[in-house]
Amino acid sequence: MQDVPLSRTPDFYQYDEQPLAAAVVDGGFVDLGWSDGASLRVHALWLFENQMGDVTIEERTRECKHDPVDLPDPSVLVDASVAPNGDLSVQWADGSRADYHSGWLRHISDARHRPRAVIPEPIEWTAADFTEPITFDGPAALTDDAALYEFLDALARYGLARLEGLPTDYDVLPVLGRKVGALRDTNFGITWPVSVDVKPTSTANTPLPLPPHTDLPTRETPPGFQMLHCIHNSCKAGFSTMADGYAVVRHLRDHQRGVHDVLARANWIFFNRSPEHDHRWSGPLIDYGTPGMPLTLRAFHPVRAFPDMDDADVPDAYAALREFSRLASSDEFQMRYPFRPGDLVAFDNRRLLHGRATIDVEGGQRELHGTYIDHDEVYSRLRVLSRRLA
Ligand SMILES: [Fe+2]
Repeated sequence: MQDVPLSRTPDFYQYDEQPLAAAVVDGGFVDLGWSDGASLRVHALWLFENQMGDVTIEERTRECKHDPVDLPDPSVLVDASVAPNGDLSVQWADGSRADYHSGWLRHISDARHRPRAVIPEPIEWTAADFTEPITFDGPAALTDDAALYEFLDALARYGLARLEGLPTDYDVLPVLGRKVGALRDTNFGITWPVSVDVKPTSTANTPLPLPPHTDLPTRETPPGFQMLHCIHNSCKAGFSTMADGYAVVRHLRDHQRGVHDVLARANWIFFNRSPEHDHRWSGPLIDYGTPGMPLTLRAFHPVRAFPDMDDADVPDAYAALREFSRLASSDEFQMRYPFRPGDLVAFDNRRLLHGRATIDVEGGQRELHGTYIDHDEVYSRLRVLSRRLA
């Protein structure tokens, strides 16, 4: 005998009842309708795969356990009707029945099952909109789900958000990061220091200025987000910079189409030089990827190594690079702000162009602690928190 009622949906969410008004079988599909006009057309075999009660959905994992090789003919579905509680009730050829939660079906009709459904749409910005990152209370984000959600929501929307008032020890960044999800390891480690080193392995660890850039364009999929926590900063110079790459790309598309097109077409081989590592990838600076993928900017001149394009494109590609960098560092697009101890700045590394002015090593010390975390992790946490807080 079952102690706990079997789950009614193939996931771990709660749904309100949304009673169906109609269920009509139509050539291997079932057409569902609600009284407010909403509708959903579902295939017989999709219904077959999603039977609850430990039939084809495994009760503990809520995942399908049915091998596709054993799928029956769609004629296995012989009837469909609306159950007294408004759920969909289906009858199979062997006489058994399966019920489907009306609210779960409705969330599909409303397209709330889609990957971007609860992820905020990006809002492009320029320096006229913000002079500093949107800022939230750091200690609250560490302890309160609603505060963490607000921070991540702004991060997804604007590609940039800041926490302030955090403790300045090295545990804070991994603790905060792992509240979001798994941190992405690279040849720089799971977390890494950004400070002026005697023997730097990256331009980031020299006092040199860093023009607007994205990290690790040397990878097939560069890290989705980056978090930088300021441990110490007594430098007077070395302000941080940010520009919204989406806004820069839109400007080019709308006003300098030729520059945009060569940046989206002409590939460069990106290559990180190291005695122990040799990461390489060839791609354009404006990398639209395949349909459905987010735009990725590959912009880091220290690792842009070789042109990988027709010779005829090289002069235009260099001219376009210069124009892209001019725009990204212009007063129109770029904000400049001080990094204060206890600040944590998070940003979309494939969208935002980050940088810094020259560090005045004679004037003080500047020490940041950084990590990467992929888009998947941030969006997963946003989905879970948005349902939990609803
Ligand atoms: Fe960087």
